Amino acid sequence: MLDLNEMKQFILDKTKDNAMNFKDKLPFYSEDGKYTFNEYGGWTGGFWCGLNFLCYEMSKDKFYIEAARASRHRFVERLYEKPESLDHDIGFLYGLSCVADYKITGDEKAKKIALDAADALIARYNETGKFIQAWNVRTPGDPFSEENRGRIIIDCMYNLPFLFWATEVTGEEKYKRVAVGHADTCAKYIIRSDYTSFHCYIFDPDTGKPKCGKTYQGYADDSCWSRGQSWAIGGFTYAYAYTGDKKYLEIAKKCADVFIDLLEDDNVPMWDFKLPDKDGEPRDTSAGATAAASMLELSKHVADDERNYYVDCAKKILESLYSNYSTKDMADEEGLLLHGCGHKPKNKMVDCSLIYGDYYFAEAVARLLDDTVRYW
Ligand code: GLY
Repeated sequence: MLDLNEMKQFILDKTKDNAMNFKDKLPFYSEDGKYTFNEYGGWTGGFWCGLNFLCYEMSKDKFYIEAARASRHRFVERLYEKPESLDHDIGFLYGLSCVADYKITGDEKAKKIALDAADALIARYNETGKFIQAWNVRTPGDPFSEENRGRIIIDCMYNLPFLFWATEVTGEEKYKRVAVGHADTCAKYIIRSDYTSFHCYIFDPDTGKPKCGKTYQGYADDSCWSRGQSWAIGGFTYAYAYTGDKKYLEIAKKCADVFIDLLEDDNVPMWDFKLPDKDGEPRDTSAGATAAASMLELSKHVADDERNYYVDCAKKILESLYSNYSTKDMADEEGLLLHGCGHKPKNKMVDCSLIYGDYYFAEAVARLLDDTVRYW
């Protein structure tokens, strides 16, 4: 049985201890139990802010608002002085740092920063191919880097709610148009006919012609990277929530069903669902946490007779994460969840805490307690 209040207290206590130590720094992944930091937040900086906003909502303790805002200067400096360091993950960064702030506190500065960031995100849209370019060409002439001009990745589906929000708050259609164009392209190419997902899909950036699916973080081009599948569940769910287009809801449900079918006995996924041999391979708790939080949102949009199915699946994942993978009895560990898998093919950030795993775990708990607005 889930003890949500116990889980909440665990999240609040550990996050407060961390915030007192981290101050304005942005945690990323842990080494030997301690978080490492990223000066401008990489793609993950927003999750620390979002985690603190969730803690504020679950406790009403203003300490967490201050903790969430302590790093704002890094987001501001990055957006206005180092925009070349940003890629499509602008939604993760500025959604959880600024949109969440605006939704909770009404802070107009946060809204302005978020809208400027949304303009930067739509500037990445390839009109011919109807997609948002994921990564930047950092090494001109290098084939992999050049391929980035035509690369989308499944993660971007979770950056789209940020654009839908921008249209909602300004009434300007330009953000939604890009989000819908990108979601449709993803629906067509990056989601396979069996509702597993490619990590990346490559297009000719000049003609928009589709080329092929690929992977960078999964086991193989035709495998199914579990965190990517969880990005698909949430991304298509929010696309439906903002547009009412049933096609997105259908994809979200089918992607969730695949995720559930491919789960391990303990309800926490391997880092990739299509490993030829699982022996010695790591799980990825962040994929489990992201899927659980996403299924809870999904459950709000499905028919009455489907709702409990997704809520129960999310609860089973959370129960296992908390009982078997959390640091609830480990005062020396800074993360909330152990055994995240950041980038297995590069053997980086494997078997550690990941700030996004911690965030989605807390989001799922907060949602079950009905203690939060939607930051996405
Ligand atoms: N968005 C990058 C990742 O999921 O690792």
